[in-house]
Amino acid sequence: MTARGKAEEFYIDNEADMVAFGERLGFAFRAQSDSLCVFLNGDLGAGKTTLSRGILRAFGHTGAVKSPTYTLVEEYNFSDRRVYHFDLYRLGDPEELEYMGIRDYFSAGNLCLIEWPQRGEGILPEPNVLIDIEAQADGRLIKITADISLV
Ligand SMILES: Nc1ncnc2c1ncn2[C@@H]1O[C@H](COP(=O)(O)OP(=O)(O)O)[C@@H](O)[C@H]1O
Ligand SMILES: [Mg+2]
Repeated sequence: MTARGKAEEFYIDNEADMVAFGERLGFAFRAQSDSLCVFLNGDLGAGKTTLSRGILRAFGHTGAVKSPTYTLVEEYNFSDRRVYHFDLYRLGDPEELEYMGIRDYFSAGNLCLIEWPQRGEGILPEPNVLIDIEAQADGRLIKITADISLV
């Protein structure tokens, strides 16, 4: 899907395809045994949670995915991996992540999906995968840069 270190662009024109695209990404993430930190950038309504739903589907989660806007993080336990879905929109101060014990989330082969990562700047680690989503016409333009190859 994307080569290591090289930004790639994809245009996805509807919600169902967004979920399917997320699922493809999810399978690539699943194939990695190391911990992975994925930043999801984009305005409100860009499609970050929709893409996360697709990623989670690759691990076998078929239900709804709620935005952890107030709880900041939602945990999903799968047989082969833990996935933490963050939404830091309402994070007041990046320091709050320290009190949450943020470092523990980025270990043990966990996958962390982070919406609004800029709110945690200075505390969050560097991402392995950076995803920018932008509304364009009726669909979304997705730009991905990764330090792993996502085939
Ligand atoms: N590729 C796409 N094309 C068109 N609409 C999309 C696409 N992806 C998501 N959407 C729509 O965008 C809206 C907002 O999505 P959401 O994932 O909640 O955004 P965010 O988490 O970035 O705030 C939803 O109504 C969803 O159906
Ligand atoms: Mg969201």
